[in-house]
Amino acid sequence: MFLPLWLRVFMTKILVVYDSRTGNTEKLAKAIADGALKVKGVEVVMKRARDLTPEEVEEADAYAFGSPSHFSIMSGEILTMFTNIYPHRHNVAGKPACVFTTGAGGQVTALENMDRILGTFNPKWIKPGLAVEGPPKAKDLEQAEKLGEKLAKASVK
Ligand SMILES: Cc1cc2nc3c(=O)[nH]c(=O)nc-3n(C[C@H](O)[C@H](O)[C@H](O)COP(=O)(O)O)c2cc1C
Repeated sequence: MFLPLWLRVFMTKILVVYDSRTGNTEKLAKAIADGALKVKGVEVVMKRARDLTPEEVEEADAYAFGSPSHFSIMSGEILTMFTNIYPHRHNVAGKPACVFTTGAGGQVTALENMDRILGTFNPKWIKPGLAVEGPPKAKDLEQAEKLGEKLAKASVK
């Protein structure tokens, strides 16, 4: 949706960052974005982890980070993204953030792994995060929407 620049200044910006090879994590990312957009005054930016810039991290008011479980930890692209934005972690500190994962059994350990790494950025945690096994089903997407809405409500200016 097109909005004039002056209006966008007053919008709460939710950044949804994710990695996804076969679309499972991306489905959750989209559902989180949909949930966040239910809250008035919110705009959502969805970014593939590899395309994220430090400016986008700085401009955001809240964050959702999502990864597939690779070898029971976060994917290489998500780890690289966290490594790249680590020097900018003061922009994340104190702002609402949540994590979400998908996997084939290792989704919870991947979520715990993301918890630990993002914890070093000292965000204002929005918990519980979401760990989904296999392709997300309707109930998982519903939970993801609720998580997005909770994140957005914690962030509105
Ligand atoms: C290289 C690779 C390693 C994986 N390792 C694990 C694993 O250790 N544990 C697990 O539960 N799933 C593992 N998976 C399965 C994915 O986590 C799972 O299919 C996930 O939902 C894929 O998400 P995506 O569609 O967003 O890429 C692996 C997948 C790939 C490609």
